[in-house]
Amino acid sequence: MLPRIDFTKTAAYKYLSNHYIDIAPKHLRDLFREDPDRFEKFSVTFGDIFFDYSKNRIDDTTKALLLQLARECKVEDAIRAMFAGEAINETENRAVLHTALRNQGSEPVLVNGQDVMPEIRAVLDKMHDFSEKIINGDWKGHTGKAITDVVNIGIGGSDLGPVMVTEALRPYKNHLNIHFVSNVDGTHIAETLKRVDPESTLFLIASKTFTTQETMANAHTARQWLLDSGADHSAIAKHFVALSTNGKAVADFGIDTQNMFEFWDWVGGRYSLWSAIGLSIVLSIGYDNFSQLLQGAYASDEHFRNTPFEDNIPVLMALMGLWYNNFFDAETQAILPYDQYLHRFAAYFQQGDMESNGKYVDRNGNPVDYQTGPIIWGEPGTNGQHAFYQLIHQGTKLIPCDFIAPAQTHNPLGEHHTLLLSNFFAQTEALMNGKDGAEVVAELRASGKSDAEIERLKTFKVFEGNRPSNSFLIKKITPYTLGSLIALYEHKIFVQGIIWNIFSFDQWGVELGKQLAGKILPELRHGESVDSHDASTNGLINQYKQWRVN
Ligand code: F6P
Repeated sequence: MLPRIDFTKTAAYKYLSNHYIDIAPKHLRDLFREDPDRFEKFSVTFGDIFFDYSKNRIDDTTKALLLQLARECKVEDAIRAMFAGEAINETENRAVLHTALRNQGSEPVLVNGQDVMPEIRAVLDKMHDFSEKIINGDWKGHTGKAITDVVNIGIGGSDLGPVMVTEALRPYKNHLNIHFVSNVDGTHIAETLKRVDPESTLFLIASKTFTTQETMANAHTARQWLLDSGADHSAIAKHFVALSTNGKAVADFGIDTQNMFEFWDWVGGRYSLWSAIGLSIVLSIGYDNFSQLLQGAYASDEHFRNTPFEDNIPVLMALMGLWYNNFFDAETQAILPYDQYLHRFAAYFQQGDMESNGKYVDRNGNPVDYQTGPIIWGEPGTNGQHAFYQLIHQGTKLIPCDFIAPAQTHNPLGEHHTLLLSNFFAQTEALMNGKDGAEVVAELRASGKSDAEIERLKTFKVFEGNRPSNSFLIKKITPYTLGSLIALYEHKIFVQGIIWNIFSFDQWGVELGKQLAGKILPELRHGESVDSHDASTNGLINQYKQWRVN
């Protein structure tokens, strides 16, 4: 059982509340001036990942108190419980063992006394064999053609991770075209099917439960499309495989369970890219690269388990985030990768973080009286700079930012990467230092402005700075370093959930909308007007019925 501790009742929280009053007015510029060792103290090297958290509004005391908070909230016990396969997803009575999927050690990993490593390895071997057949062209479609296109049909955790990783690792791609269909909006699958050939397309139906409405609707449409092309039912075995925990539903759909890649209920959907759900990744970049991804994640798991909290990156990330979330009233956290290949990284962690920690009921079943999970958002730099950075620099909200950049690019084109990185460094510096009135006046004077113009313009051009950020400088985005980076973020989410005393591995909050959609669907199938809802919902449904083409 996970600890039940209200972090706002701990001694550390009390000290932090007082300490906040001292630190809040201090400027990061002064914190750097006062402590020449600050950068060395507040940065960690972990393999090819360098984590700089010195541009945060903390000093030695803040760090010590935040670490004390983690200890008082028994984060160490919680880490041990997760890796030991205890049923820490208590509302679903399940273990949380995405870490076992990438475990490279020889020790067994027990769930209810049973070692899960042999079945994990068996599925990995099956993914390996299968992917080689597809990539080599040995696996043939129903007319004898090799597979050219793979369409992953899944949503949420059965889509976002594979999309993000296949995009991030495009430089490692083979010849197969990989497509993703997630939205139940028919446009998504219609546009995808226009680009593929039924004779050479493989569909991966990716769904932990194999009951998700969107995925099942898209899967049925894909199957019908194959049959409509002239293929008979026996073709389904050559063109459809399932990635799921639900063998019965897979068989009911008509997919041979020989063509099913299994995973288990102790793999959360949003933590499942390491499981059979990663088959699209394997098909995109080959098994050896996928294996590197797992190894990189395992390195982070070991770092997380074994590194003292003082230098433990996920713990530090979690504590920095909590400091702003619960003391500075920051509501959001921006993730800003300076790497075009990471363009879905923030979207991926929107689910990872917000579905995990978007909870207002604590582990005792009581409503919390403090803030829990932040709103996660972001876009790749430098595009974000020309869109929303204005608000980060001069808006009224404090937005802690994670900047992520590779030192080496996969596309060394002229000066592009140097230009990109100059922006990465400049933004974190600008957010921290800002620009004061004297600097603005000097600049305006140097540009020949009159005293009157200077007076009129100067306040608009001042940046107060003191806006915090973390920086991840990564030697190169490879399968290994990407695996490590993703796992660091996963563990950050875990630590925050432990301290907020919430359950991070269920997602009851997505159920109500699903239930209501199930109730409304039959009402949309007939022509009569409805009156079973509130006035707004009735009005919208009835307006829709008037306008739709029947
Ligand atoms: O949106 C809720 C959710 O259950 C996610 O947690 C999950 O990733 C997604 O739906 C898809 O579920 P499944 O893999 O079972 O289709």
